[in-house]
Amino acid sequence: MLDISVEFCGKRLENPFILASAPPTANCQLIRRGFEAGWAGAVVKTIAPTYSPTIRSRFTSNKIGNKLVSFGNIEQLSTKEVESWLPELKKLKQEFPNKCLIVSILGGINSNSCIELIEKINDVKPDMYEINLSCPHYIEDESCLSIGQNASLAAKVMKQAKSATDAPVMAKLTSNVTDITIIGNAVKKSGANALSAINTVRALLGINIDKIEAEPSIDGYSTFGGLSGPSIKPIALRCILELYKGVKLPISGCGGITTWEDAVQFLMCGATTLQLATSVMLHGFDIINKLKEGLSNYLLKKGFNSVNNIIGIVTNKLIEPYELNQKSNVYYKIDINKCNGCKKCYIACQDGGFGAIKMSNNKAVIDENKCDGCSLCLHVCPVKNCVYPVTY
Ligand SMILES: Cc1cc2nc3c(=O)[nH]c(=O)nc-3n(C[C@H](O)[C@H](O)[C@H](O)COP(=O)(O)O)c2cc1C
Repeated sequence: MLDISVEFCGKRLENPFILASAPPTANCQLIRRGFEAGWAGAVVKTIAPTYSPTIRSRFTSNKIGNKLVSFGNIEQLSTKEVESWLPELKKLKQEFPNKCLIVSILGGINSNSCIELIEKINDVKPDMYEINLSCPHYIEDESCLSIGQNASLAAKVMKQAKSATDAPVMAKLTSNVTDITIIGNAVKKSGANALSAINTVRALLGINIDKIEAEPSIDGYSTFGGLSGPSIKPIALRCILELYKGVKLPISGCGGITTWEDAVQFLMCGATTLQLATSVMLHGFDIINKLKEGLSNYLLKKGFNSVNNIIGIVTNKLIEPYELNQKSNVYYKIDINKCNGCKKCYIACQDGGFGAIKMSNNKAVIDENKCDGCSLCLHVCPVKNCVYPVTY
């Protein structure tokens, strides 16, 4: 296997994969198992200055068939108070000195809460701190998301955090803002060493139409929650690319990573390390093996000799809409030998396209003079490589 190590804020990680702050990092026994499985680092479940309650039940999921497309939660922060984390974290750090141990703490504006928390944790000698400025459903008003959406509050909290430690400090940002680079640059000015993006996306997680109530329901009531998993990946990629170009700090990418292909995409958009939560919750720590193997094989196959070679590599391919070539021409063809006659492309093109597809002897055929090149047929076709583009 290729060397897939990366350097992040002065620390060498054996691979870019880190357990995100979430249930798989809710205690040190779990983190230990993650390290043993091969994860290069872990962000501890966010520690708050005061007791964080448990809310039951707290998860939802959206599936298409058997495939989960998104996951929802209204989980709160670590239910363990800082004092009960300390001896275990210290032991863990001593046991795994080469792993990247990142302690996440709540970003709160109540005077000095960050400073007090960090000063208690410094003795553990974590490799980094992550300041959670982005949980969309924490029960206290003046913390988390409301800070991550406000540049001057975010800057103030980062300044407090930086004053309390010599360890690198990373800000965990939300996509729920108009321009994520404004928040990124504000925390950079206050000394942030890195950014992690994104947290869960604020969402109404679901409505139960039989019970006529929102989900997850607690005594008939719910609240807006956080969406994670595959469906938030495009939002995360966009945010990472914007931060890479517009802030220029190291980035820990997060949001919807499930496969090694996802990981490669995040690296190409500018992430140096990669955090995963939902897919670890669903499939377990051992997914690390496929992630590492897939990334290494991809780099070898493409002739890259290190992960660094692909970090940010796609960012100069993103331009403004008005800069796109409006003269580029393409139409689509159907491989008659692969067409199974399902009519999906025919229906889509009739009702959502340009009426360019007809059925002939139970096969779909495209009239290239009518085809607009929109690609809708390609996206509804269930057969791999049956529909293909032709440029002219
Ligand atoms: C159940 C659950 C609990 C989470 N708890 C935290 C948390 O305590 N602190 C935090 O910064 N992020 C928390 N997150 C957000 C994740 O760290 C991550 O940013 C988000 O889930 C997107 O990544 P994913 O699609 O890989 O899950 C939580 C996510 C989930 C699903």
